Amino acid sequence: MDDYRDINRANWDERAPAHATSPDYNVQGFIDDPGHISHVVRFDRPLLGDVGGLRGVHLQCHIGTDTVSLSRLGARMTGLDFSPVSIEQARSLVARTRDDVNFVESDVYDAVPALGGEQFDLVFTGIGALCWLPSISRWAVTVSALLKPGGRLFIREGHPMLWSLTDARPDGLLVVDFPYFERTEATVWDEGGTYVETDAVFTATTTHSWNHGLGEIVMALQAEGLQLAGLVEHDSVPWEALPGQMTKDDRGEWRLTDRPWRLPASYTLQAVKPEP
Ligand SMILES: C[S@@+](CC[C@H](N)C(=O)[O-])C[C@H]1O[C@@H](n2cnc3c(N)ncnc32)[C@H](O)[C@@H]1O
Repeated sequence: MDDYRDINRANWDERAPAHATSPDYNVQGFIDDPGHISHVVRFDRPLLGDVGGLRGVHLQCHIGTDTVSLSRLGARMTGLDFSPVSIEQARSLVARTRDDVNFVESDVYDAVPALGGEQFDLVFTGIGALCWLPSISRWAVTVSALLKPGGRLFIREGHPMLWSLTDARPDGLLVVDFPYFERTEATVWDEGGTYVETDAVFTATTTHSWNHGLGEIVMALQAEGLQLAGLVEHDSVPWEALPGQMTKDDRGEWRLTDRPWRLPASYTLQAVKPEP
């Protein structure tokens, strides 16, 4: 395998079943309680506002828990992901919960034809999504094409500053060691684990990823004619991004234990496609 997509897809395909049975994704919670929503979407709600009646697409939806959550808030959702095993898990979730959500298997860059040219009121994405894409400009072209005039992009994502840091150090210092800006070359990782609690053992351990600076993301969207409607930086993320250096709060958010004000750990960006 030498295409980044094949390498990354193998990694996600192997992790999806382990994620679906991990307490951290709490699939059983969705089955047991038709009002249950993920803590990611619960965090988003104040900025997301009322999504009732909106036609939405969730790019890089993984096993569908955030997609179903948005549907439970009243949006008519489609989830899209390039990992067939993730899509299988997402479909299995809604088969058990009876939520009316459909899932499409496609690379993000092919989302426009894969979704039949449909345009949406809401494009939702994030939490470990953009880092798998080599070109933020190409992503912005896709997002713009997927939005109806007046439609909105909502993204909460790991902050590019966070992605640039080394693993936790005994002295607690935050050290920048990886690219902040987008580079042509991928950063190649070889990691046996995953970001949730699981006993699963993985063999597909290689991934290729890219960082994109905050300015690069904003300007890529602006170049496609989208108007920035909000940009909020947060000191927390919904997973333990720097193991051993973070503490979880009662909303499921992790922030630096020591002086959390040092690091923008995630951000919420909203952008609107103007009406003609
Ligand atoms: C960390 S998950 C993010 C989803 C969501 N935050 C969650 O945790 O459920 C990343 C997802 O991106 C998908 N992905 C990675 N590269 C992709 C690509 N080029 N096109 C479509 N999906 C992709 C993976 O299959 C995976 O399901």
